[in-house]
Amino acid sequence: MGPEFHEKKRQEFRNQMPSNSIAFFFTSPIMKRSNDTDFMYHQDPNFYYLTGWKEPHGVLVIFKDNQQDNNGFFNEILFVRERNEYREMWDGRRLGLRGAKKMGFDRVKLRSDFIKNSFKIDNFSNVLSMDIRDDVRDFKDDKFDLYNLQNKFLEIINDKESPDNLGDLKKEFNNISVNNIMSNLRQTKDSLEIKLLTKAIKISSLAQIEVMKAIHGDMTEREVQGIHEFIYRKYGAAHEGYNSIVGAGANSCILHYITNESIDIDNQLILMDLGAEYRGYTADVTRTIPANGKFSPEQKEIYDLVYESQEAAIKKAVIGNTFNDIYLESIEIISNGLIKLGIIDDAKDARKYYPHGVSHHIGLDVHDPGSRTLEKNMVITVEPGIYIPENSDCDPKWWNIGVRIEDDILITGTDPINLSEDAPRLSNEIEKLMEQDSPINQLELPNIDD
Ligand code: GLY
Ligand code: MN
Ligand code: MN
Repeated sequence: MGPEFHEKKRQEFRNQMPSNSIAFFFTSPIMKRSNDTDFMYHQDPNFYYLTGWKEPHGVLVIFKDNQQDNNGFFNEILFVRERNEYREMWDGRRLGLRGAKKMGFDRVKLRSDFIKNSFKIDNFSNVLSMDIRDDVRDFKDDKFDLYNLQNKFLEIINDKESPDNLGDLKKEFNNISVNNIMSNLRQTKDSLEIKLLTKAIKISSLAQIEVMKAIHGDMTEREVQGIHEFIYRKYGAAHEGYNSIVGAGANSCILHYITNESIDIDNQLILMDLGAEYRGYTADVTRTIPANGKFSPEQKEIYDLVYESQEAAIKKAVIGNTFNDIYLESIEIISNGLIKLGIIDDAKDARKYYPHGVSHHIGLDVHDPGSRTLEKNMVITVEPGIYIPENSDCDPKWWNIGVRIEDDILITGTDPINLSEDAPRLSNEIEKLMEQDSPINQLELPNIDD
């Protein structure tokens, strides 16, 4: 995006810092996959937003007020990894001090200096830091998350490092205000960000179209996933913004199904929730289609109901409305529809089949931070769904039908703009498109199974 964008964001962050404060940001950790193989590195989105820096082992320090030393005034320091000819031969280039300067930082130091540096913390009335442990999911209802286990282990091997000490350390840092400021900044997108998001969304929508043309009943979930992701790469997207969800039949009823391992999709609805990440910005688009090209009457009833709900909900995506306004619109239509179909008797049971929220922000994260009240230049999803797993309390003819339709909506001063509208949503338009073939099906590979 260029140094100016990130420099501007650092200044905006500084403007919102409390008086006489200092803020620390850390890069994402490198995470081990197994033995000596790591997961693909991905920078922490806050760190990336403020720096554009994509390497690990860095620290960004932002000061509210100008500081002075023998070399003059400064209000931020970026600490980076040193160059290393040998490691760069194995792992790839490092930008080093010179590279960091080119990215608009006046004060750049090595990570080793971070350890030696004295920040005279006592001089500041507020120390801000992002949550230094957000690399592991800490489910609120999970008493034994990985860190508890790690802390216990540390306690056993070294009694200086007790969990209580770590707890105190955490308390000293004011990460609530960092999260608030970052959320204030990131929730509305500037024109450059909207451009990148629009591209990520366009790529994802075109992949949905290609899959609609290519899919047939004897494909596997993984093959379908592969077509989406192949199209992403064709358009230059480096990653998926989150693990791709491709589930047919029973699997379409699992909200975040990511194993994508069923080889049997024929005659079922297949729910495809995927998003390309383009230069850091991720789409989040879901289409649900009949794998064989034709909705069964039951599949069509449920699909059309979700469509009707989504259409009405998208219209509520206007300045001043809240996520809840969008949700209430969507659930009202779904509960009335489910009653009419005889699937529920009472509107309050609709949540059983539509158990999630309808909207979230997207951006550098698929679930981007931001307010639940809409403002101009926010980009949010609108994604109602109905999921009827096997053994649900309704006629078995509805079982294993799961439908979600998810679009990415730009909030404007007037009508909402659907950035993912390229990918058809109307059931008859989907069926029409699915009559076409895709050149992807020309690829013939030798059979390697006996
Ligand atoms: N892909 C995750 C979600 O729709 O929120
Ligand atoms: Mn979503
Ligand atoms: Mn999604």
